[in-house]
Amino acid sequence: KRQDHGLSRDLYQLMEEANLFYQSQLRQHQDKQKVLDYLDFRGLSDDVIKHFGIGFAPDGWDGLLGRYRQNQSAQDKLLTAGMLIENDSGKRYDRFRDRLMFPIRDRRGRVIGFGGRVLGEGTPKYLNSPETPIFHKGNELYGLYELKQLHRDPQHVLIVEGYMDVVALAQFGVDYAVASLGTSTTAEQFQLLVRSAKEVICCYDGDRAGREAAWRALETALPLLKPGDMVRFMFLPQGEDPDTMVRKIGKAAFEELIQQAMQLPEFLFETLSSTHGTDKGALAKQAITLIEKVQDSVLQNLLLESLSHKLGMNSSDDLKKKLGFAVKKPQPLNAKGLQGRGTPLRLAIA
Ligand code: CTP
Ligand code: MN
Ligand code: MN
Ligand code: MN
Ligand code: MN
Repeated sequence: KRQDHGLSRDLYQLMEEANLFYQSQLRQHQDKQKVLDYLDFRGLSDDVIKHFGIGFAPDGWDGLLGRYRQNQSAQDKLLTAGMLIENDSGKRYDRFRDRLMFPIRDRRGRVIGFGGRVLGEGTPKYLNSPETPIFHKGNELYGLYELKQLHRDPQHVLIVEGYMDVVALAQFGVDYAVASLGTSTTAEQFQLLVRSAKEVICCYDGDRAGREAAWRALETALPLLKPGDMVRFMFLPQGEDPDTMVRKIGKAAFEELIQQAMQLPEFLFETLSSTHGTDKGALAKQAITLIEKVQDSVLQNLLLESLSHKLGMNSSDDLKKKLGFAVKKPQPLNAKGLQGRGTPLRLAIA
């Protein structure tokens, strides 16, 4: 246990050193001009580059590794930290090469991973740190530390898909966005956000993937919501993401869109209506499946009430009777419940 602690401390230290190295390369590497040109092309200001600690991993196999030539133990730890890759013949080299580097910080501001973007076209577009002893991406949110530096007790937080979205929004003054690191937003990330801000607004890209991400986010959020929790959803025009959108329309108009974001029940019922059309039976069936996930009985009853109105009934009692469902007593939300495993459903067939 003590040794683990020592290892983590060394990993944090090395990650910070790597971060400082990438930032220094942005200022002094011989190839820096192409990076500055790319930053310029993306419209990033010096201030926002500094605020997020954006850097440059130079091309070559040993830009970072080369700094630890005489230090085997540091090399071993860089491998553990995901900064080096070891091939089948045991040869080690830098994971991040010729990329724009976004340091990912934990809530205490420690660098725990990186996202690296190719400069221009190329695959993969983003390369991310793997899971390591100090980086569990499902528990982290890109930009949360930076946001908390500006707002101790934020009113609202926007969840977006990408690093560039967080950075561009901040540059334009929408400095309360975080990104869920490429994966769908996890229950742990939602829990963290619902605790951190009065209102959470999901703002994914205006494409098919973004709309699907919003629906997955709804399904993920449902079990952990309590009555006062505000989760809303905003939808960007086809082909836009928060980065392109805020550059196009500016802060005020973007915040206008945030104002208009849909409440969770509205998004839920609108999506079900458009999926099932006039088939009320199918709509009710899917709605019930979703409402069953809600752990909080007050919120669950509110949703049942809304559903019954959508179905043209006077109250949810009629609905429950008709479907043969009964609402159970609320139970405290536990760690298991958060992950949706092994918990009894609140709505059970009577
Ligand atoms: N992503 C990833 N690996 C990829 C593509 C995407 O990890 N190969 C993650 C990144 O976190 C990225 C997010 O998914 O920021 C959203 O992807 P996408 O919308 O394709 O990229 P953008 O963030 O819009 O990037 P950019 O504006 O730089 O093109
Ligand atoms: Mn602000
Ligand atoms: Mn996308
Ligand atoms: Mn983008
Ligand atoms: Mn995008």
